[in-house]
Amino acid sequence: MKKSKVVSENIYSEIPIYPQRDLSYDFLGLHWENPFILAAAPSTDELDIVRRGLQMGWAGAILKTTSIEGNIVDLAYPMMSTFNHDGKKLFGMGNIDLISEHHIDKVEYNVRKLKKEFPEKIIAASIMAGRKEDWQRLVERLEKAGVDFIECSFSCPQGNIGEDPGKMLAQSISATELTAKWVKEAARRVPVSIKITPHVTDIVDVAKAVKRSGADALTAANSLQALMGVDIKTFVPYPQLNGKSTYSGMTGPAIKPLTLRTISEIARNVDIPILGTGGASTWSDAVEFMAVGAGVVQYCTAVMHYGFRIIDDLKSGMSHYLDEMKFKSVKDIYRKALPHIATHDELPRRKIRSHINEATCIQCEACYLACRDGGHMAIDRNPNRIPKVDWERCVGCGLCEHVCPVDGCIEMKVFK
Ligand SMILES: Cc1cc2nc3c(=O)[nH]c(=O)nc-3n(C[C@H](O)[C@H](O)[C@H](O)COP(=O)(O)O)c2cc1C
Repeated sequence: MKKSKVVSENIYSEIPIYPQRDLSYDFLGLHWENPFILAAAPSTDELDIVRRGLQMGWAGAILKTTSIEGNIVDLAYPMMSTFNHDGKKLFGMGNIDLISEHHIDKVEYNVRKLKKEFPEKIIAASIMAGRKEDWQRLVERLEKAGVDFIECSFSCPQGNIGEDPGKMLAQSISATELTAKWVKEAARRVPVSIKITPHVTDIVDVAKAVKRSGADALTAANSLQALMGVDIKTFVPYPQLNGKSTYSGMTGPAIKPLTLRTISEIARNVDIPILGTGGASTWSDAVEFMAVGAGVVQYCTAVMHYGFRIIDDLKSGMSHYLDEMKFKSVKDIYRKALPHIATHDELPRRKIRSHINEATCIQCEACYLACRDGGHMAIDRNPNRIPKVDWERCVGCGLCEHVCPVDGCIEMKVFK
């Protein structure tokens, strides 16, 4: 048998790397070398791990949420689960993790070390407490340690310290405003961002409460509470812990549209800097987050899935995009999508019809089936299997365009 050829260790070494643009800019009174930062999560809990992420090119890291000494963090394992969809693993990722087992003393040490080793990087820390004096002590100690900004977790899906289990601080407008005020009172030097949850009736009311508190920024949003699935033989949901389960925080690509909604609603209504988190995996996700109002973008699930090395793709993709768009800086993307978001009654009403490009149609009839059973019975079947649109019946809903597997084969055009 022929021996297989040994593949060189770096199989990508031949692929030219897109020339890196200067991606740096200022946001929140800080200088960012690029818009990509590691979110508070397992990837930012251990010194050696964070160090590797920063060395690989991330602009900074938010160290996993810490608490005052003596706070008990009672973890339960296994903590991870997954929502696989259509052959894609971790389309959504579930976790029942809690805050860090490292208390503030350890995190102070980590901040000092990291700031010394990486003075140019953004080193932030996330905190959670119950009592006013604990919130304020955490802030004071982190400031002394040299942190660049502080993120306050008001939205762990398993609940906040001192609240009922599963109850998040950011679900109460008055508690959000009061607690954010305590934190801001204690923060003399560094900016404070309040990490909120989309699990509220009106996200704008919460954002306004944060603004009233005097906090410097908002982190929007976080994981979403989810039941990740049920084993249909045993009926035990996932993750399974000896016959029991609970609600997970779901993260990853599946929640991106919800995060975009949250960020954009805040950005359209409240004048406050936003750090985006929830579902960003690629450079173009970051463009979308920034276009709807995020100043920087946090990554967590994508790093846990593919490793820190995705930063190379993020930076080269963003560089290429800026060149293509002839943008001078990453900041040119900021809020670009907001003027295009309107209420439903403000939307233009035009007569639209579906057009099928026969040359690219692969005759799969997906459009015919979708329109017959979920649309307006406006696509006719033909003996040659090339579907034909009945423009009398077609209302231009767009369903056929979205089920068609060939990009650009079906287009919605203004009907004259
Ligand atoms: C396993 C795990 C642990 C997390 N721990 C924290 C935490 O301690 N504090 C916090 O504010 N967010 C925590 N998060 C939430 C992330 O910071 C981030 O907001 C969330 O994962 C959404 O972003 P993503 O879709 O990029 O993962 C955690 C997420 C995961 C997956």
